[in-house]
Amino acid sequence: MNIKSNEIRQKFIEYFKEKDHAQIPSAPVVPENDPTVLFTTAGMHPLVPYLLGEKHPLWLRLVNYQKCVRTGDIEEVWDDSHLTFFEMLGNWSLWDFFKKESIKYSYELLTEKMWIDPKKLAVTVFAWDEDAPRDEESAIIWQEVGMPKDRISYMGKKDNWWGPAGQTWPCGPDTEIFYWVWSSEFPPAGSNVETDEDNWMEIWNNVFMEYIKNEDGSFKLASMQNVDTGMGLERVTAILNGKTTVYDTDIFTDIIEIIEKTLWVTYDEQTKRSIRIIADHTRTSVMMISDWVLPSNVDQGYVLRRLMRRAIREGYKLGHKGQFLAPIAEKIILKFEDIYESVKNNKAKIVEEIDREERQFLDTLEKWLKEFEKLLGGFQIAFERTGKKVETISWDKAFRLYDTYGFPLEMTVELAIEKGLSVDTEGFKKAFEDHQAKSRAWAEQKFKWWLADNSEMTTALHSATHLLLAGLRKVLWEHVHQAWSNITSERLRFDFTHPEKVTPEELQQVEAYVNEAIQAGCSVQLDNVAKKDAEQDPTIEASFWEKYPDIVKVYTFKDSAWNIFSRELCWGPHVESTSTMWKFKIKKEEASSRGVRRIKAVLIK
Ligand code: SER
Repeated sequence: MNIKSNEIRQKFIEYFKEKDHAQIPSAPVVPENDPTVLFTTAGMHPLVPYLLGEKHPLWLRLVNYQKCVRTGDIEEVWDDSHLTFFEMLGNWSLWDFFKKESIKYSYELLTEKMWIDPKKLAVTVFAWDEDAPRDEESAIIWQEVGMPKDRISYMGKKDNWWGPAGQTWPCGPDTEIFYWVWSSEFPPAGSNVETDEDNWMEIWNNVFMEYIKNEDGSFKLASMQNVDTGMGLERVTAILNGKTTVYDTDIFTDIIEIIEKTLWVTYDEQTKRSIRIIADHTRTSVMMISDWVLPSNVDQGYVLRRLMRRAIREGYKLGHKGQFLAPIAEKIILKFEDIYESVKNNKAKIVEEIDREERQFLDTLEKWLKEFEKLLGGFQIAFERTGKKVETISWDKAFRLYDTYGFPLEMTVELAIEKGLSVDTEGFKKAFEDHQAKSRAWAEQKFKWWLADNSEMTTALHSATHLLLAGLRKVLWEHVHQAWSNITSERLRFDFTHPEKVTPEELQQVEAYVNEAIQAGCSVQLDNVAKKDAEQDPTIEASFWEKYPDIVKVYTFKDSAWNIFSRELCWGPHVESTSTMWKFKIKKEEASSRGVRRIKAVLIK
């Protein structure tokens, strides 16, 4: 079978639209107003407020394809299935239908629209534990739709429970659908996921969110029952085409061809690892930049930088000394531009940024190589003095190369091998783990769960960002848009597009603008507006139009004389009146990445 990924994406959306679902656009890969995570990792992520009970402006049944980034297992990227960017097909019921329809829909879509032979499907459902009973209901529904009893396995929380992603959140049992991986044969009678784990591959996950995890770790039944499903497009494409790896599907084959041509190499067992890393990492870089992530040394920008550097190094390893990423990025853009507006709208910028970062990094790489030469020079001097040959690069030297110059260990090892040396990798790993533990503690500290902290202060600071953006656009002009925002209960941090430092005078004017709005006791009015009308309205500010559904929420801040201080598209929450806000104070203005400035500000009594 030759089934194109585009066709699968489309079939999925069409099917659920027929079942009365409203399609919502993909949110950007960088979540807005959620400091707990760097990237959107699942389709449900941008929907959290609605899964918690807020009314969705569009409808109770939703469907979309969502750009997702997961960089947790970046080291495994070159294997058959791990990717740092993937698309998740998902559908949701917000307190509308529950298990019965969800399972029926999934089964019907797979077996009647997606060419899957029902004999090659198996499922798992939640077994039971002290927190929640066995999900017999799902098992019965599965049998009703036609799943043989012996293809249903009951598994524990580790396998059949989803979430919460944070400490507290909606969560619940899930039922997972598996496909028999040996496409040419049928599974033997009685084979199921429990007995025959390696031969079944998960393709779809239907989460029945009916619990809330409390802070003390206990679970309680939620007041609403939602459905959240997720299917990885890349994986399902591989499976439907009988491929064992996503790299052999239409999602990657033409990207791999371009890499072969550009680098003058052939994709084979020897080059496979490097080529896959280049393909995956460049794809993720394109998608990140399309959502305004730029290479930097912090947060998302740092992840992007790491991905690009890894890709460039692999090219170097394949014997290519110059730049090579631009044609690959262009190919990826071509594949995505009709699917994501963010890609279509930022084509030139994506290539420009990739090209620039690559050029700079190649210089770094040269410097690294020089550093390495120096190290070898030191060994030679030691040898001449003592007559003892250095055979191993000690962990502290390797760690210094890593910590000071950003040398990854694998690079040190490779260079060492070429010179007949070895590296104390054990010692390095220990030092690295200590270092990691410290960063993890730091990250945990940093990423406090924002919903747990949906405090009045966070809400007030969020309203303040709207006034801040309006002030910036008034004082600096209208090229200013939001690039990213991060709000905690202590402060706001706001990134916006502007090419140069904002002067102290300008900052003062912006601050005064915000405080004027606060003193005026503006009311904050929420209107639901058709997106196509809102888009035409120049008084409405929005940074990512494509993120929004057909009906959008517009928040207007206006005083009693109807002077409008800010009109912006947003998903809330906001204060009802600015009179409850304190005095606005800008604490800092600095560069965030090229073309993007960052303001930190607070509200004080
Ligand atoms: N949230 C679930 C997942 O990530 C289903 O969408 O798999």
